[in-house]
Amino acid sequence: MNWKPDRRAKKAIYKQLAEYIENGITDGTFPPDKPLPSERYLAKELEINRSTVVAAYNELVSNGLIQRNRGSGTTINKDIWGITKKRIPSWNRYIEAGSFLPNLPVTQRIRKEAVEQKLINLASGELSEDLFPMKYLREITSTRSFIGSLGYDHPQGNEILRNTITKHVRQFRKIDSSPSSILITSGAQQALHLVVQCLLKPGDAVAIEDPSYNYNLPIFKSAGLKPYLLSVGKSGINSNEILSLYKKHRIRMIFLNSAYQNPTGSVLNEHQRKEILEISSEYGIPVVEDDPYSLTSYTGEPVPTLKSMDAHGNVLYISSLSKIVASGLRIGWIIGPRPVIERLSDAKQQIDFGHASFTQWIANDFLESENFHSHMKRLIKELEKRRDQIVTSLRFYLNNQVEFDIPQGGIHIWCKLNKNVDETKLLEESIKRGVIYVPGSTLGSKKGFVRFTFAREDEITINEGIKRFSEAFYSL
Ligand SMILES: Cc1ncc(COP(=O)(O)O)c(C=O)c1O
Repeated sequence: MNWKPDRRAKKAIYKQLAEYIENGITDGTFPPDKPLPSERYLAKELEINRSTVVAAYNELVSNGLIQRNRGSGTTINKDIWGITKKRIPSWNRYIEAGSFLPNLPVTQRIRKEAVEQKLINLASGELSEDLFPMKYLREITSTRSFIGSLGYDHPQGNEILRNTITKHVRQFRKIDSSPSSILITSGAQQALHLVVQCLLKPGDAVAIEDPSYNYNLPIFKSAGLKPYLLSVGKSGINSNEILSLYKKHRIRMIFLNSAYQNPTGSVLNEHQRKEILEISSEYGIPVVEDDPYSLTSYTGEPVPTLKSMDAHGNVLYISSLSKIVASGLRIGWIIGPRPVIERLSDAKQQIDFGHASFTQWIANDFLESENFHSHMKRLIKELEKRRDQIVTSLRFYLNNQVEFDIPQGGIHIWCKLNKNVDETKLLEESIKRGVIYVPGSTLGSKKGFVRFTFAREDEITINEGIKRFSEAFYSL
């Protein structure tokens, strides 16, 4: 056998072997009518553990390429090779070759575990079912007639909804806009993606917060951007850091989550807001204000947006209904200068031919109704109760082992652990005990943090989740 695994490569040896066999099946090195080499033979020949060969074969079995037969060894699956000897594509190589990067493995794991294992979910950044305004949304779909068209809608999104959003952002976020300066997107996430794809180019330096939701977003890396970090304190970032990043790296855009930041819960103070806008104007650096949370202030008084102070059109404002109505509606929007919005909406059209008309209709009628106000009042009260619960539980079960700032809005709490623990082990121990959260390293550069989201579970479950987390923590 000429092939040997590369022991210095980053790729696991079992993966290399699986790929080697897959390629061999494709190019005829391993003919379809002959058994594949035995596990023992491969282990000896390649000087690797037999369990590594088993892992490689298991991967090929799960891909449907080979099958194990009792008594007659491992053979190439007849269904895929067939009598015609058509070549099958090497899917693994395609999967790894795409320019759009996959999520971090730990992020994929958290999502999978949270859904499949039905764990206590202190990880997903969304509301629980009982916080969705289901009753009101049902009322809309059962008593009102659909106003939209079932054809492809306007590329910027339904005009009636854009009108309603214009009124909504004026009333709740003090932002002056017009329907023509709004693009409806599939959540805030699509708006961020469109900005990254359409307004920046590979190699561009951008400033993002540390920690932040953006910290490990593959969309930045996929676009070849160079992210530089702005540290987040109690009242957000410090504008001086923007200046020094600009001087060193000529940053081309600043990404901020200005209110009840994910994950720290911090709110950018007024002085910093003014300074940031001044720097933005003086050096011509656009600011992307990502604001899904400003309406979740527990006092009921929304935090002023950066965009409301933007006199010159330097800020692109992104928001969505995910954290205040329902993430499954996939309604978000971006507000900015018309040429920018037109550029982004052209791209959105190329990607998906515009937004689905049904959810736009539901979102519109809900935002316009009085029910939106009663829903927001209840939501804020509930979020505050859950915030109180998580603070009480953290103090009770972890006492001086954790430090945190108490968030005054939003759905996350960012905790510093006062003991040096192995992050991976802590996550594994927590999953074993049935609770999941987000390890700090997926959101920021500093070690020893965790993020808990308290909107997804009720108070009793939050308490149980923190109890189990503390057991995992003390077990290490
Ligand atoms: C700061 C921030 N931006 C954007 C998003 C994306 O949200 P969506 O696309 O559901 O609006 C999230 C979700 O957690 C977030 O926390």
